[in-house]
Order: sequence, then structure tokens, then C-alpha cells
Amino acid sequence: MSENPIGIFDSGIGGTSIWKEISSLLPHEDTVYLADSKNAPYGEKSKEDIIALSIKNTELLLSKGCKIIVVACNTATTNAIHYLRKTYPVSFIGIEPAIKPAALQTKSKTVGVLATKGTLSSSLFASTSENHTNGIEVVEKEGKGLVRLIEEGKTMSIETKELLKKYLNPMLEKGIDCLVLGCTHYPYLIPVLKELLPEEVKIIDSGLAVAKQTKAILVKEDLLRKGNTVGKHQFYSNVDTLVLKQFLNSKNNNSLFVNQLDF
Ligand code: DGL
Repeated sequence: MSENPIGIFDSGIGGTSIWKEISSLLPHEDTVYLADSKNAPYGEKSKEDIIALSIKNTELLLSKGCKIIVVACNTATTNAIHYLRKTYPVSFIGIEPAIKPAALQTKSKTVGVLATKGTLSSSLFASTSENHTNGIEVVEKEGKGLVRLIEEGKTMSIETKELLKKYLNPMLEKGIDCLVLGCTHYPYLIPVLKELLPEEVKIIDSGLAVAKQTKAILVKEDLLRKGNTVGKHQFYSNVDTLVLKQFLNSKNNNSLFVNQLDF
């Protein structure tokens, strides 16, 4: 089993921000990544639909022999990971908005969270937020429309900038000094966020923490790959793969294989 790949899924290309952290921390591991872009955004779907899509993705990854599954999507983690963990025999690593590190770092005692409606309305987010933000004001904003623009590759467009301004301004007015990126698509907005945010506002995301947790679980379960050749990475998208290829910069990398698949 240790020679089998790590499975990763997201509602689209956002989770590649997590894949990048995993593949750089664990360069000898093979990975299989599912970009369910056809069904993006998950953030506006019901909990039942998010669970059904997560089941579909999990079963495809298991059919490809994955030894562990990373749910590289805050929306799927906060709505479906509990169900997945009690249903399937492999370990699941999830991602949640990094409220705790933000709460520890804020000096103004005010943090912003930008995430999808599905994440912000989940009970898992509510309990994490409640447990770690004693005495801290959390300004939540739904990033409606951002996932679609990122899926279209429009990370630097005027439309993206205008939407971000609309979501960030109320947070800045309240005095946030930390912005939590609560969606794995949003790290692709960091260049534009840096243009829009004052320097003292820290941008916090959980990608590296997820990669470290994946490594820790593989070590604990004795599932780290023994081979020391460079890992191979299969990507499957159920829409045209052009934007995915651009985000992965896959052209000159012969260990990346990007495929279109109906799933
Ligand atoms: N990448 C996602 C997340 O982390 C999903 C966004 C969406 O599909 O709405 O929440």
C-alpha cells in the first residue's frame, strides 16, 4: 500500500494550491488529483449535494488505489469529512479556514475570513470559530463569484479586483490585521490581494499545514513511499484542461499528466 498514490480532490483547480505544498514537502510521493470543475462552485450547494459529490470523488480516488485522501476543499471538508471518515477505510485529511493561527497572531483583535457560503454556514466552521476566537472579532465574508472567475483563469481581471474590494472594504473598516483565506482557490488571488490590502494585514492560508498533517499521518500509518524516485502526478478534470494546465505550469514538467475525464 505504501507505494500507492495520495488522492486529492477539490471542486476544481483551487486544490492545486494544496497539491503544490504536498508535492514539495513529499517529493517522492505519487499523487492523483481530481478537479471536479464541472460541479463548481460547491460553496453554493446544499450539504446533501456536497456530500454526494464528495462520495463520487472519493470512490473514484479509491478505485485508483489511493492510500490516503486529502479533501483539498474547505467546503467539502466542513460539510462532508465527518461522513467520509465514518464510511471509508482510509484516512482523510481536511482543510478548514485557519482561524486559530489568525487568532494567535492578531494584534488588533479583529480578523477577516473570506470563504464560501457552504463553509461559513457549516457547523464545523461555527464550532472551530467559537473555540478559538474568545475576545476576538471575526468579520466573515462570502466570496461569492470568486471561484467562478478563478476557474476561468481570470485571477487578475478588473471584475475580480472589484469583487475583492467589495468584500475586503468592510473588513478593513472594522480594523482587521489578518485575512484568513478560507477557500483553496483563493491563494491564486494573493498577488491581487497584496495590491489591495495594506501591508500590515497578514494573509493566512492553511496549505502548508495540510501538507505537514498529510506527512504526519503517512508516517504514523507507515505509508510513506519507500522508493526515492521523483513522484508522478495524474490530474483529472471533467472540463477543458487549459486553465488547469496553466495553473500547474505543466508544459515543461514530465512528471505531470493532465487528463480530461468524465466523472
Ligand atoms: N476550493 C473550494 C474551497 O476550498 C471550493 C470552492 C467552491 O467550489 O465553492 O472551499
